[in-house]
Amino acid sequence: MKTNYRIDDLINHPTVAQTFEEVTRFEKIPTVIMDDAVEASLYVAHEIAALIRRKQREGRQCLLGLATGNTPIRVYAELVRLHKEDNLSFDNVVTFNLDEYYPMKPDSLQSYRRFMQEHLFNHINVRPENIHIPDGTLEPADVISFCRNFDKAISDAGGIDLQILGIGRTGHIGFNEPGSGIASPTRLITLDHLTRTDAASDFYGEDYVPMKAITMGVGSIMKSKRILLMAWGENKASIINKAVEGPITDQVPTSWLQKHPDTQIILDFAASAELTRVKTPWLAGGVTWTDRLIRKAVLWLCAKTEKAVLKLTDRDYIDNAMSDLLTQHGPSNQINIKVFNDLQHTITGWPGGKPNADDTTRPERATPYPKRVLVFSPHPDDDVISMGGTLARLVQQGHQVHTAYQTSGSIAVFDDDVIRYLAFVNQFDEIASLGVEVEKISNDLISLIRNREPGHADADTILKLKAAIRRGEATAACRYVGIPANRVHFLDLPFYETGKVVKKPLSKADVDLVAEIIRELKPHQIYAAGDLSDPHGTHRVCMESILMAIDNVKHEPWFNDCRVWLYRGAWQEWDINQVDMAVPLSPEEVIIKRKAIFKHQSQKDRPLFPGHDSREFWQRAEDRNHATAIAYDKLGMAEYQAIEVFVRYDIQ
Ligand code: F6R
Repeated sequence: MKTNYRIDDLINHPTVAQTFEEVTRFEKIPTVIMDDAVEASLYVAHEIAALIRRKQREGRQCLLGLATGNTPIRVYAELVRLHKEDNLSFDNVVTFNLDEYYPMKPDSLQSYRRFMQEHLFNHINVRPENIHIPDGTLEPADVISFCRNFDKAISDAGGIDLQILGIGRTGHIGFNEPGSGIASPTRLITLDHLTRTDAASDFYGEDYVPMKAITMGVGSIMKSKRILLMAWGENKASIINKAVEGPITDQVPTSWLQKHPDTQIILDFAASAELTRVKTPWLAGGVTWTDRLIRKAVLWLCAKTEKAVLKLTDRDYIDNAMSDLLTQHGPSNQINIKVFNDLQHTITGWPGGKPNADDTTRPERATPYPKRVLVFSPHPDDDVISMGGTLARLVQQGHQVHTAYQTSGSIAVFDDDVIRYLAFVNQFDEIASLGVEVEKISNDLISLIRNREPGHADADTILKLKAAIRRGEATAACRYVGIPANRVHFLDLPFYETGKVVKKPLSKADVDLVAEIIRELKPHQIYAAGDLSDPHGTHRVCMESILMAIDNVKHEPWFNDCRVWLYRGAWQEWDINQVDMAVPLSPEEVIIKRKAIFKHQSQKDRPLFPGHDSREFWQRAEDRNHATAIAYDKLGMAEYQAIEVFVRYDIQ
């Protein structure tokens, strides 16, 4: 089964025709960009395997420096596969792990010792005495000598041959947070606030994340003979840019790697987004100017000069390293008008197409009218958060709108909300005199919640109740925008139903459920969350399930009349240079959208998993839609209150 589609494939990213030296000239660490995290993980795993085998032939030990976290999971899976299916032996391997939370029991769900056992060590033949992981159970008085011995054990064994690293959004390697010097040894460190927020979901809340960790130092890492640092997803794009292209500074500890003689950075396409060669390739050298790249470059120039599109002059192009575009497609006035029209044509108040209108320059076709519309929502509230205004408009304009909630969202409901509902049931019992049975059941359920240990998953019944709360909220939001209950579908995709933050891999059962509803409704429009980054990766998996389902149905004749539109979830927005359809919202529609989001009461005030943004979801949605409207306005388009934007997915 094909997994891990490259969402960026969907958005026509620019064609670059430059030499390798040109495109990489801003990069101070050799960097490889791969299509996706799967391909990149295989690349890393195969380098590790080749090294282990070479050392075996030479009759020597192989010292590996290992990392934990989301990034290396697929690398370990491939090493396990190579061990099981390809006779890769780990008999000569000695491992040193980068870090461990402190304090931390080795069998805790969040322990890095446990992570390593579960993802790698339990499945291969590494000798237990060859495994070294910082110990989270030490007495405080023993930590300093433990750290010293850890570094000594590495050098006594001949130094690390190959160190693999992830990167934190603070720029940490290991847990060397900003301020860590180039010579820092293995030591106890206080975790940065951002790192603790990032870890919050693993611990079921930031309050449970330890304040400290024991980490191999930057100095210890720098002594490794070779280093491979991996980063996946657009969440890492900005820090990768700083580490690779920025100055060396202890404020971005990864930048120390610029001084290491043999480091390679391996990125998926999303994590490379802020590198010059991807973000502004024309600054790195000659490019092939496609229409999309012209739009991207002109919008960048507008931002740089703080001018509207039609006010850009030849001089602006020349002064900002864009003479090449001017020579090939100029004068500036001609380029400006082209981009202006192109942007103007993205704007429509008729997301389902305007009946009986000339649709040659509109984003959506006029016929058929009305359309059957299927809106997929990864969690039960992404539809209204991301496209609530468009949703309401589609209904008002007479289309037959269905929503399909892909996951139950059960893990994101506070215990207190469940208890509140159960207390309500108890009162209902009293009022309707249903007898003691109902009261007993709800009290049992309440004690299940109260007796659960912090950081542990819920019992199945509690998860079902949490899912029921979210179903009720989603149905209420749909009702509010005019979608009747019989057009509201809950798919409860099995991959999500672990009750934990860590989900199962996507399977055929998930894809079949998605394909089934598409087949049943035969929609003329599908809306889906084209997301790579939500805190737990659920959006990414939901998107993959839709793309795989589309692969299954796309050859059926009715599908020729179906278009797929991608919105973005609560965590980010499309860049204007990517947008194919922009739906303006009036001030009244903004309020309708806000009220629809309010129906998701369990996520209001402060959701259980807020990610890195402390604003409520309705505030994020409003700020983001308003920011898009301002951006269009600044480019010289009409001035709207708010705009929701979509990218069209070209089905191949
Ligand atoms: C893990 C470690 C950290 C992680 C980094 C990225 O052993 O030392 O530096 O590599 O925090 O974490 P993920 O991969 O979860 O994004």
